[in-house]
Amino acid sequence: GKYRVVSTKPMPGTRWINLLIQQDCRVEICTEKKTILSVEDILALIGDKCDGVIGQLTEDWGEVLFSALSRAGGKAFSNMAVGYNNVDVNAANKYGVAVGNTPGVLTETTAELAASLSLAAARRIVEADEFMRAGRYDGWLPNLFVGNLLKGQTVGVIGAGRIGSAYARMMVEGFKMNLIYFDLYQSTRLEKFVTAYGEFLKANGEAPVTWRRASSMDEVLREADVISLHPVLDKTTFHLVNKESLKAMKKDAILINCSRGPVIDEAALVDHLRENPMFRVGLDVFEDEPYMKPGLADMKNAIIVPHIASASKWTREGMATLAALNVLGKIKGYPVWSDPNRVEPFLDENVSPPA
Ligand code: GLV
Ligand code: GLV
Repeated sequence: GKYRVVSTKPMPGTRWINLLIQQDCRVEICTEKKTILSVEDILALIGDKCDGVIGQLTEDWGEVLFSALSRAGGKAFSNMAVGYNNVDVNAANKYGVAVGNTPGVLTETTAELAASLSLAAARRIVEADEFMRAGRYDGWLPNLFVGNLLKGQTVGVIGAGRIGSAYARMMVEGFKMNLIYFDLYQSTRLEKFVTAYGEFLKANGEAPVTWRRASSMDEVLREADVISLHPVLDKTTFHLVNKESLKAMKKDAILINCSRGPVIDEAALVDHLRENPMFRVGLDVFEDEPYMKPGLADMKNAIIVPHIASASKWTREGMATLAALNVLGKIKGYPVWSDPNRVEPFLDENVSPPA
């Protein structure tokens, strides 16, 4: 291979490797056992000659790494993730390294986890499972694990991009929930979908579903029964859910986060969960990942999973393939396949698994 491409982690499937090998690339996959690589570890991987790197969201891609990659002749970096808050895109631009991410292929998989957490929280599935396994079930009772009915309630979505819109559609269509959403951009497709589904329900003699675009994030937090967070992490969304906004939410609301941990003030959330046993959360991400704030793991009203929202086989293979295409494209002199600077929030992706 003429080009040296490094992947900081083994990734699922073989398609991504084959794509690179077929196009004159030598692929080096880091087999280091520790989960999170340090900047020093990655510097050693880059070495003296490296044309492109596929990296992970656990890594800190800033000045140090992009200047080293540039010195090694590198032109391309792809995060194997849609989020790229771990990447300093300005630093990459400064050193002439193109950056890619992997949107689209993880939209439905991630939305499905947000929906799973919503249902699990509403119906207290994890608590109930623990109860069974502990041998505590000694007969049906009217008050045993009573939860929330979603039908007719309001689902709130903050960040109605690809994932947020997919989640909203699932909850509206699947459970006949009304929608309130906040996004700087209007999601016309989503609004049309809810309107059309509402008309369908009405024509069948059922209560129609409704939608509303909120004028602030707080409005969604205050009014919705189930709230799912899908914004990008930046200064405007850091601790978007904090002590005050938690207080303004319904006492029995359900809060879901499959975006980035720092969107929630996690210490304030732990206090709120302790003081409000009817309030429930489903969390896929944490403020100081991989750590949790003290007390969170003891809360029965919290469901916690280890950042697995995009973890379906098809999606993870797709993310690896897209990351390889990003790097390969740039090496071959094309634009990166997926450039996070090119924001297309309402793209009709229509990505579906191969038959
Ligand atoms: C995962 O968190 C991603 O951003 O793809
Ligand atoms: C519960 O199991 C019921 O039959 O209502």
